[in-house]
Amino acid sequence: MRTDRIAAAVFACALPFAALAAEQKITFHKNVEPILQARCQACHRPGEAAPMSLLTYSDARPWAKAIKQAVLTKKMPPWSADGSVGHFRNDRRLSQEEIETLSQWVDSGAVEGNMKDAPAPLKFAEGWAIGKPDAVLGMSKPFDIPAQGTLDYQWILIPGFQEDKWIQAFEVRPGNRAIVHHVAAFWRRKGSPWMADAQPGVPIAKPSSAPETGSSDGIIAEYVPGIPPLALPKGYAMKLPVGADIMLQVHYTPNGKATTDQSSVGFVFASAPPENQVITYGMAAPMLKIPPYEANYRAQANASFGVDVRLLGINPHMHLRGKSSEITLTYPDGRKETLLNVPKYDFNWQITYEPAGDLTLPAGTRLEAVSYYDNSPNNPFNPDPSKEVHWGDQTSDEMMAVFMHIAFPANMDPRALFRRPAYPPKPSAE
Ligand code: HEC
Repeated sequence: MRTDRIAAAVFACALPFAALAAEQKITFHKNVEPILQARCQACHRPGEAAPMSLLTYSDARPWAKAIKQAVLTKKMPPWSADGSVGHFRNDRRLSQEEIETLSQWVDSGAVEGNMKDAPAPLKFAEGWAIGKPDAVLGMSKPFDIPAQGTLDYQWILIPGFQEDKWIQAFEVRPGNRAIVHHVAAFWRRKGSPWMADAQPGVPIAKPSSAPETGSSDGIIAEYVPGIPPLALPKGYAMKLPVGADIMLQVHYTPNGKATTDQSSVGFVFASAPPENQVITYGMAAPMLKIPPYEANYRAQANASFGVDVRLLGINPHMHLRGKSSEITLTYPDGRKETLLNVPKYDFNWQITYEPAGDLTLPAGTRLEAVSYYDNSPNNPFNPDPSKEVHWGDQTSDEMMAVFMHIAFPANMDPRALFRRPAYPPKPSAE
């Protein structure tokens, strides 16, 4: 061991200086490409959310300075949670070492290095990120999008399955990414009065009724650029009951050219009946009322469950005036813990934070979410500081909702869970 080390040291000293420097030089293929593969290419490749590809040296080289800047300022990869609170399995933050490698590569001339050091290129699933879906349900007709204007959210009915389905993974695929800002897929139980008159292929812009709260009519999947689709751990699945419909809520943003969209939802079914059922639950403060020019408006929402639940994911949702959000847990024994702190909320990144390990909330644990809003002119995203702002769908309205994926034994009646209404909420005192 010792002699090996001495031999290595002697060998290193014996190398001519230039060769040693070359040996240590940080190159694209040896040092940088593996980081880009692991941390960036999910979004930075053709057809995905980011504006430029970082797949190859020639793709990445022109962006070298911007890459250094983006990683030093922690703008990239996008991740808004305070790193000192909680542990999340999908944490995207780079290690200090990765940041240094990228920035030293740029400082030392962003050299390519030797192709033979390159890792094998990643293989990306064509089309569906969840793998080949067992079923795909789509809009029955293309929807016409005008060249200009602001469209209300469009609600589009897609008939579901004729038997109960346990679903392991969902993916919403926009038909036309250029104008689909986001899509939320809800399910609606058979016989629900919520948009009871909806017909497949006939979009509804102004729903006459709100979804039922509780165990049905929940949100199941979302498409937001750059956010991976929902794939549940083995043994966990969402139930789509027989005769339930899918209600797509699509936000279209016209971009100057009249066009069409036909979005769809892919499903991977659980291979066996799961031990645990998962639902998306939302806690919300629907009565928010943000005064004009108010720079620090506070809104709070709470939840607690009647049974033990496992928390698989949590996503604080606000719009353009959203500033920060903090979620704390108070256990039945009085112990308090901060679950998630998002000090600088960024509307562009609708991140679902997935707690690492098994986070079980004993029955009666109180979840408390506190969010702040900036309706002042100092908020660069603020569309109109002179407006009093209320709950609403459009990004110029606001929301204070925290979506959670919670799991409980599959043989339990989900209604046992609820002590407060689920998303979207009926108005109640804040
Ligand atoms: C979750 C998706 C996602 C991941 C992961 C991601 N990016 Fe990005 N990136 C984007 C999007 C979308 C944009 C354009 C919008 C923006 O700038 O916020 C962007 C913009 C950029 C820009 C341009 C910034 C500017 O100031 O114009 C750089 C440079 C960049 N990313 C580098 C990286 C690097 C390096 C990584 C990995 C270490 C990475 N990104 C990971 C989605 C992502």
